[in-house]
Amino acid sequence: MTPYARNQRRLLIASNRLPLSVKPKDGSYEAVPSSGGLVTALKGLSFSDYLWLGWPGVDINERDRESVDKALAKENAAAVYLDQGLAQSHYNGFSNGVLWPTLHYQSEVSFDNETWDAYQRVNKIFADRISEAAADGDLIWVHDYHLLLLPRLLRERLQSQKKRCAIGYFLHTPFPADDFWRGLPVQEQLLDGVLGSDLIGFHTDEYKANFAGACGSHIGAEVEGDDIHYGDRTIHIDKYVAGIDCQRFADTIDDPEVQAKIQELETQYKDKTIIIGVDRMDYTKGLPEKLEGFRAFLDQHPEWNEKVLLIQIAIPSREDVKKYQDLEGEVSKLVGQITGKYATPKSTPLLYIHRSVSFAELTALYSVSDVCLLTSRRDGMNLVASEYVACQEARHGVLVLSEFTGAAVFMKPGSLLFNPADADGLSNVLYEAVTMEKEDRKNMYEELRSFVTTNTSAKWTETFVGELMKLQ
Ligand code: ADP
Ligand code: G6P
Repeated sequence: MTPYARNQRRLLIASNRLPLSVKPKDGSYEAVPSSGGLVTALKGLSFSDYLWLGWPGVDINERDRESVDKALAKENAAAVYLDQGLAQSHYNGFSNGVLWPTLHYQSEVSFDNETWDAYQRVNKIFADRISEAAADGDLIWVHDYHLLLLPRLLRERLQSQKKRCAIGYFLHTPFPADDFWRGLPVQEQLLDGVLGSDLIGFHTDEYKANFAGACGSHIGAEVEGDDIHYGDRTIHIDKYVAGIDCQRFADTIDDPEVQAKIQELETQYKDKTIIIGVDRMDYTKGLPEKLEGFRAFLDQHPEWNEKVLLIQIAIPSREDVKKYQDLEGEVSKLVGQITGKYATPKSTPLLYIHRSVSFAELTALYSVSDVCLLTSRRDGMNLVASEYVACQEARHGVLVLSEFTGAAVFMKPGSLLFNPADADGLSNVLYEAVTMEKEDRKNMYEELRSFVTTNTSAKWTETFVGELMKLQ
């Protein structure tokens, strides 16, 4: 029995992205697994009775909605339908054009009233849909920056419908220092919106402190330890360490087909030291920085040119946003320059995969890699770091991790940290990783393993929901 089964309460989850995204195919639709840390972190959910509500990812014709609803219902999910123009303005416009860069310390942000209006409208549509689905006593867990206004809107609707529901909110990105946050013209409304929650969670103490500071400075809230007094209510804030489902990786590695794939890769690359990178194609992930650092490594250590292979998987992401299109061009150019300069008829130092790979392929690639290289400029947590560790029981690979990830706060003792803006620094740390003695690798790996197996996705969901349950 799960810890929650004893308790009769139901959990409603609200996020912009559902665990399955619907994509058009041959005049109809197919459902594909969604990528991203939010969906991965929620994989450990062990609630017996839950419903996950979110945007299906595309505009769905009225006539096809029934079949989409049926497919989603099998996964305990339900669609919040949005018209194409509105969804585009909310998702690409305000969420990914304004909020995402602000939360990740990017200074080029273009605020406009049209996308802000769409953002408010979509949050209202979510509030209508979720309050309608909610029953008295349900727990509601809202996720991420697309829905910052939702907790307040939900609270108002639920109150008028006389439904008592505890509302939790988790932010999957950093919450930035005030110099970045206060530049946003509507920041006060956003803070007021999220404070409609009873419980608010962050990945790290730093993000939590930045948020509390903003509430104290801008909307007259009073901060007392981990409590925020605002209006006539008290909201609890805390850090909850997100993780992965390690068992899922262990089981996949044991699958005979994956074992065969691992052996095939090991034979193919028996003379290579493999460095793996897995990132959404996103400017926060520091892909140009990774390639510049790798180029510096090849320049400074020519003896490694035919002995090393960087396999970079860049999962297509937010392709309608100009900044993401520009990034793709920049990455392709660097990939071309590096392979053009260093590849020989016998070997290439770089393999670039710009598409989604299957979970089995991903697990096999993590397993055969000697180093994992993650170079985010800023990253709320970064769960790829944990996934790599989960697949390295046999090899004890080295984790080379940007100091600007949430993961670095927790994985510092077992990884090599660096600043991705410094290409020579990255080259040095890569050299240290590929030449590290077996004994040192093992010692560092044990540190990482202990963190990853202790802080699982199940623990994250149970701790957050357990806390939420206590609040009402
Ligand atoms: P972000 O949330 O910014 O994308 P994370 O590193 O926290 O960054 O999470 C990325 C997640 O996406 C990881 O769990 C990774 O395994 C997952 N992922 C990578 N490739 C795919 C794929 N092809 N399909 C689904 N999920 C994927
Ligand atoms: C990050 C965000 C998630 C988002 C994911 C994938 O992890 O915190 O909210 O779902 O990226 O991005 P996408 O735009 O495809 O939902």
